[in-house]
Amino acid sequence: MGANNVLKIKSQIPYGKQQIFSDDVEAVVRVLNSDYLTQGPCIEKFEYAIAQYCQVKYAVAFSSGTAALHGACFAAGVGNGDEVITSPLTFAASANCVLYCGGKPVFADIKSDIPLIDPKQIFLKITDRTKAVIPVDYSGMPADYHEINILVRKHKLIVIADAAHSFGATYKDKKVGSLADMTVFSFHPVKLITTGEGGMVVTNNQKFYERLLLFRNHGITKDPRLLKRKSEGPWYYEMQELGFNYRLTDIQAALGLMQLKKINRFLVRRTEIASVYTNFLKNEINIRSLSVSNDRTSAWHLYPIQLQGKLRNLRKDIVNLLHKRGVMVQIHYIPVHLHPFYHEQFGFKKGDFPNAEAFYEGEISLPIFPKLKTREQFWVLKTLKNVLTSFSSLSKH
Ligand SMILES: Cc1ncc(COP(=O)(O)O)c(C=O)c1O
Repeated sequence: MGANNVLKIKSQIPYGKQQIFSDDVEAVVRVLNSDYLTQGPCIEKFEYAIAQYCQVKYAVAFSSGTAALHGACFAAGVGNGDEVITSPLTFAASANCVLYCGGKPVFADIKSDIPLIDPKQIFLKITDRTKAVIPVDYSGMPADYHEINILVRKHKLIVIADAAHSFGATYKDKKVGSLADMTVFSFHPVKLITTGEGGMVVTNNQKFYERLLLFRNHGITKDPRLLKRKSEGPWYYEMQELGFNYRLTDIQAALGLMQLKKINRFLVRRTEIASVYTNFLKNEINIRSLSVSNDRTSAWHLYPIQLQGKLRNLRKDIVNLLHKRGVMVQIHYIPVHLHPFYHEQFGFKKGDFPNAEAFYEGEISLPIFPKLKTREQFWVLKTLKNVLTSFSSLSKH
């Protein structure tokens, strides 16, 4: 790679990125020098700290958010033929986890004005096979848990919140984590705090907790209270279910614990960046930002904008030009039902979920992460404005 390329790559601004401090590195090194790289004391400490933070009883760490979603579906008892309702505007994992358990993902469209699953659409999709609902806190904004919980209580369904984006967000003054039967977080580097790869399920339900523990460790337990047969000695364990090795390592848990100490500053910085975007873009007629209603706060994992009018048809060119200028915006998300797999396996097609599709077609996620410097953000804004101006004059001709 030539020197010019190195310079070019250095001046790129990604849409999301971790922030690692020297105490994070030191915490990892301490584990590397200790007796346990995995299955040691850091896991429980991390789980306890996350449960405390979310004001819930239990937390179970997983090797990724996807593994955590799989675990939550297993704990909920999703099995062959069970239907689980989720949003089409999400990452594939929110629906794939249902398939892993033999269930059938059913999509309910998002609202027309906000990219969150519409409780009215959920209601329309409930059948006597429905087992659970997986609302997705898109971009960090909690879904409409009040309405969703009323619905699911009536139909005796389980709510698994996909809160991969919303660790630290609140809804009606309650922390995300305490709003659903189980809540799933992801600690991928672009998320609110990171463990490299990693995830967590939090819950107040002891039965779910025990099933989650079992599932992430091959379906094996040593807990004397849970054994089905008489113990044969101190080595005795039982495999009671078909589980997986979905364990987080102590190295990762140590990083997570240290990252968690910074959650408030991360949230404050993300909120600051979001409000600068919102302020500077509010008079820009070519785009619309998301507004967060007063009853909730967003964790601002993403800062999604919607292109307006004719510019929507030019999104690909706009994204290409932004990338060329080093603003590495992303698109969240290609609606899950439009992926070839979902089309081929289930026959979903364009037009099935018009709100999610319309949102996708106009969406661009601007860079947002705690390490983004103010001058970099202004450069992003200036570049965006220039690009939009050049395309809006083009679209008039
Ligand atoms: C909404 C959503 N759910 C689940 C996941 C899966 O998390 P992980 O990447 O930790 O497996 C992601 C990851 O980006 C996500 O965005």
